[in-house]
Amino acid sequence: MTATQQGDIIPTDRKRLHVITWGCQMNVYDSLRMADVLAPLGYTPVAEPDGADMVILNTCHIRDKAAEKVFSELGRLRRLKDARAALGQRMVLAVAGCVAQAEGAEILARAPYVDIVLGPQTYHRLPEMVARAARAGGAIIETDFPPEDKFDHLPDQTAPQGVTAFLTIQEGCDKFCSFCVVPYTRGAEQSRPAAAILAEARRLVAQGTREITLLGQNVNAWHGEAPDGKTWGLGRLLRALAEMPGLLRLRYATSHPRDMDDDLIHAHRDVPALMPFLHLPIQSGSDRILGAMNRKHSAADYLTLVERLRAARPDLALSSDFIVGHPGETEADFDATLALVRAVGFAQAYSFKYSPRPGTPAAGAPSQVPEADKDRRLQALQALLREQQARFNSACVGLALPVLFTGLGRHPGQIAGRSPFLQPVHVSADAALVGQQQLVTISAALPNSLAGVIDPASTQRERLSA
Ligand code: 5AD
Ligand code: SF4
Repeated sequence: MTATQQGDIIPTDRKRLHVITWGCQMNVYDSLRMADVLAPLGYTPVAEPDGADMVILNTCHIRDKAAEKVFSELGRLRRLKDARAALGQRMVLAVAGCVAQAEGAEILARAPYVDIVLGPQTYHRLPEMVARAARAGGAIIETDFPPEDKFDHLPDQTAPQGVTAFLTIQEGCDKFCSFCVVPYTRGAEQSRPAAAILAEARRLVAQGTREITLLGQNVNAWHGEAPDGKTWGLGRLLRALAEMPGLLRLRYATSHPRDMDDDLIHAHRDVPALMPFLHLPIQSGSDRILGAMNRKHSAADYLTLVERLRAARPDLALSSDFIVGHPGETEADFDATLALVRAVGFAQAYSFKYSPRPGTPAAGAPSQVPEADKDRRLQALQALLREQQARFNSACVGLALPVLFTGLGRHPGQIAGRSPFLQPVHVSADAALVGQQQLVTISAALPNSLAGVIDPASTQRERLSA
């Protein structure tokens, strides 16, 4: 055994794997699965790149200067790789994810010391790529969409994810929003079969997971062949998962308003394990811009959907994504976005300045919005969203909310968990409660989290229901 600087204890016959992850929850899941794929080859995850036998950069291409971030990180890693080479040791450097998919050739041209470039659909082939990299002099690039389904080739063996876990059920997107690279980097919509999802969920629960977030770029477009011979939609899948003993909570992200069918809306009414929080991106409140974005829904469609969801689950909290400064957006369009935010009332939301992505239709549009207008609009929108979030958090003070504890808090004697509405909650309590769900009386609201005390009267009841 040897200890790294950070205290990871690694047997000497094991290899060290360091993975750096940018971007969405699906990238977090993919990074875990890449580690699972490499585990049989003796790779063990470590927290730092120093001394690593392999480093994977799992990249995101959705906004901003994604590729530049990757190149600056690669420059840093090159020094570590050279230092290792001077000692006669090797560091395999791999770039994965959506930047690799979109700009693989450019990566190899600008950073020829990279050994492997692989897209999101090929990471099940990593062992073979690592073996080829060990033999080959040059770099290996695997960014084609392979004929086989990667999920059929991933190991059943998964490292435990903890109290809450991600499970990818759907990948890719056929919607082609004007601004978005996902249909190009992740490919066409594809759903995993229900049996494989249920089996993976069972394994997670056996490893101690109590909450699963089902993931997909268009998660509510999921439809899969089911054990009963029928084709299920997401609502039916959630009902099946909710019956799994030990699984207390379910969530799903990210949804498209167009794919919210009746059965899924009714699942919010019928399935108590389905948490009353939904991330439902709208992007803009202006029908003109929604049309230009190719979103295939209007602001009124979204408001009607929210009404139906709230009728099904009155305490449902909503989150969304917004883009300001899409090509052609005027002040009047932006005002329509502010009006929509006021009409819905969000518990939280993400908002971004439009960032042209090479190869997408909006990037070439003539009516690009000046940066200064984007900045001003983003600030105004974020101020409104912050105000709504603060109001939502304050309204929780005095309530008793079930909190699933996921780990230790920042301060000694504290543990932390999540409310049903995904707010982080801190309480002073015994670390033995991590992994359990308890009723917590909320005593204070902070901008991004809540503080509370465990309700002693209800502890017994919650334990029983868990
Ligand atoms: N510019 C700005 N934001 C974008 N998003 C996707 N593409 C872009 C882009 N080109 C945002 C959308 C999406 C979220 C994941 O990222 O709001 O829902
Ligand atoms: Fe991108 Fe639109 Fe697909 Fe979402 S629905 S992944 S924004 S193309």
